[in-house]
Amino acid sequence: MTSPKQQCAEKALDYLKDGMVLGVGTGSTTEAFIALLEPWRNRLEAVVASSIATAEKLKALKMPLVELNEVGKIDLYVDGADEINDHLQMIKGGGAAMTREKILAAASQQFICIAEKSKHVDLLAKKAPVPVEVIPMARSFVAREIVKLGGQPEYRIGVKTDNGNAILDCYYLDCIDPLALEQTLSMIPGVVGNGVFAKRRADRWLHE
Ligand code: A5P
Repeated sequence: MTSPKQQCAEKALDYLKDGMVLGVGTGSTTEAFIALLEPWRNRLEAVVASSIATAEKLKALKMPLVELNEVGKIDLYVDGADEINDHLQMIKGGGAAMTREKILAAASQQFICIAEKSKHVDLLAKKAPVPVEVIPMARSFVAREIVKLGGQPEYRIGVKTDNGNAILDCYYLDCIDPLALEQTLSMIPGVVGNGVFAKRRADRWLHE
């Protein structure tokens, strides 16, 4: 019997086309998708990874892995989410990879989110924290700025992103307007990226 995550992943296979440049996200649902990619090894033009962990998995399958700088654009980006709303805006970054994920999503023609039905929420960030990636020396400053916004930041101890930065998991931020929150967080000096995906939301959500 296939798990809900596998069912989501299988549905994304329908969107693959010969000669595509594919972007691959990070997390357990994406891992289920990667496990299905082997038959596509010689059919895809190139594959771009959103994290070191994903790159390692793709390398193990001998997929045609390239850096984003080597390709003009990504045709299709497939990734999971921690939360997703009716507008296909998301909270991401449970796996600390959201900054690179957001770059790949922005560089992609089409963004497909593979996430179980249980990830659906009416209001983003009511339960899940918004992960914010910060330059280590700015951590306390950014935390104070987050408090001023009404949030409660928690330092994700022992976690260093692929970019060498720290993560603040920010609870209780007002996310009624996800686009506004995404922009506000992006403007804080020291913030490298945040887990609100509103400006570049998903084009499609595939669930079990
Ligand atoms: C990684 O940083 C995240 O954005 C993941 O895409 C998100 O946490 C979903 O992960 P799962 O598929 O493991 O639930």
